[in-house]
Amino acid sequence: MEITCEVNGQPVTVEVEPHWLLADVLRNQLGLTGLHLGCEYGVCGACTVLMDGEPVRSCLSFASQVAGHQITTVEGLAVDGKLNRVQTAFINHHALQCGFCTPGFLVTGTYLLQQGKLLNREEIREALSGNLCRCTGYQQIVDAVEEAVNQQSANAVECE
Ligand code: FES
Ligand code: FES
Repeated sequence: MEITCEVNGQPVTVEVEPHWLLADVLRNQLGLTGLHLGCEYGVCGACTVLMDGEPVRSCLSFASQVAGHQITTVEGLAVDGKLNRVQTAFINHHALQCGFCTPGFLVTGTYLLQQGKLLNREEIREALSGNLCRCTGYQQIVDAVEEAVNQQSANAVECE
């Protein structure tokens, strides 16, 4: 079957089999290898992408389900070629080691950023609890997301 959707702001039409997973189509048909497949059953979060702005596990979604929807992968998080606040904060806080989990954390963190809410540390930990990291111990990841999310919210409050 042929599906048309938007991926990282670009219209895309691709031939898929009905049972093909979104993660595989993004990686194999569209060359978007930024998302990673860890567990392949919805636990690790490494395959997270945004569908119409909401985080989804691409290892649990059929590609056929995204027809007519907007998908954002880690490759689409930068704005006008510039890293977004979450990406920059990950660099500043050294929030990755092997990097396998990083695409999923960046996508989830960007979702939190886009919500525009002030979040305390516990709320951030809870919001990131669907993403697993085997290397970092999570401290720097939470530090990075906390800085990015709350910096943006503070700026928004100042502008009101
Ligand atoms: S690969 Fe999708 S949640 Fe782990
Ligand atoms: S940095 Fe290695 S799994 Fe998170």
